[in-house]
Amino acid sequence: MAITGIKGFNDILPGEVEKWQHIEATARRVFELYGLSEIRIPILEKTELFCRSIGDATDIVEKEMYSFEDKGGNKVTMRPEGTASVMRAYVEHKMHALDPVARLYYMGPMFRYERPQKGRYRQFHQIGAEITGVAAPTVDAQVLTMLTHFFQELGLTEPSLQINSLGCPCCRPAYREALKKFLLDRIDKLCDDCKRRYETNPLRALDCKSAGCQEATQGAPSMLDHLCAECGDHFDKTRKHLELVGTPYSINQRMVRGLDYYTRTTFEMVTTMLGAQSAVAAGGRYDGLISSIGGPQIPGIGFAMGVERVALLLAEKDFSRRPDLFIAALGDEAHAEAFRLMSALQRLGFAVEIDYEGKSLKSQMRRADKFNSRFTLIIGGDELARGTAPLKNMDGGTQVEAALDAASIQAAMTGGA
Ligand code: HAM
Repeated sequence: MAITGIKGFNDILPGEVEKWQHIEATARRVFELYGLSEIRIPILEKTELFCRSIGDATDIVEKEMYSFEDKGGNKVTMRPEGTASVMRAYVEHKMHALDPVARLYYMGPMFRYERPQKGRYRQFHQIGAEITGVAAPTVDAQVLTMLTHFFQELGLTEPSLQINSLGCPCCRPAYREALKKFLLDRIDKLCDDCKRRYETNPLRALDCKSAGCQEATQGAPSMLDHLCAECGDHFDKTRKHLELVGTPYSINQRMVRGLDYYTRTTFEMVTTMLGAQSAVAAGGRYDGLISSIGGPQIPGIGFAMGVERVALLLAEKDFSRRPDLFIAALGDEAHAEAFRLMSALQRLGFAVEIDYEGKSLKSQMRRADKFNSRFTLIIGGDELARGTAPLKNMDGGTQVEAALDAASIQAAMTGGA
């Protein structure tokens, strides 16, 4: 029996991969406009890194990590996200010593043992961005504007931006208590997970999908009403700067993120087009994360998008590539000439196809059709003898006689023949 892949781990095949390349190239192009540089981080990290940064009481750390002991007895984990690793690298390489401001992006596979379904996989891919060293709300607005710009460049009208503030260690504890007090009377309605998390992470009930939790949290106090003066000011200024540059957003007071490191601004890019998996990208500020993993007290903010989810939103668009030229040849000599011309034109930067086996003209034309090339050139004995061949523009239908050398064919194709 043939061996199959592992559930939740997908192949990305030619045809689909062109869409991924387009998403990745768009991210690089847009992010670099905002001064970000790429960082490449390892897939395996010490388990402790994620326990300390994401938080022991989160679903990711409690239930979803691919952790094991390596042959040396070290506890290691396949990264479930990128932020912790990027910040570990930032601290380890003392990137803050010269300038605390680092503007970084990354892309690659992440691993979470979740129940696979459309838009949710066990190996999935993120493109993420992180900016350290700036506490000012201008950078919150900049990061959100960059993310919005990215989706606009892809030509997507979905997803839309929702923002919230989770406060800071100064104001969140009092809010937690207020929320716990509110939920205490309604605790029977909460789902088992939220009942269990009532002590460790009561905020999760606010964005829990279960009907009971939604009912129990109707009318619950809002974090935004409990922000301290500094956090309130930060949120107002973030909004003001978003408005200044016309970045559309709405406020979602129930948004709670599944990772513990967030402070102040949090956000999600949400869509209604992917069923339960509504978040296409998500992130927020994490002013205490760098110090929690042993670095200096330096603030940070960032996001990650799920590439599979972005690709699903682009499902209707065609990213297939077209070769520039298909050369059909009749007879051994013409076939050799087609091979020579193909190689010379490829070196000039054109995508060229021939039929490797020199089949019948009919079958070669079928292949030309399948490739949907912009031009076709047909070479037989007569064409070899006279040194020219008909070059047909498959879009306009026009035809010219081109000399059988790469430079002439190049001139005929770029001259609009
Ligand atoms: P996250 O919300 O856990 O945040 O994930 C970010 C995005 O990754 C999600 O919005 C979703 O699009 C995608 N994603 C997450 N899990 C899966 C999955 N199982 N299958 C497919 N896609 C998935 C973080 O990871 C933070 N590190 C984001 C961040 C960066 N915050 C600050 N900087």
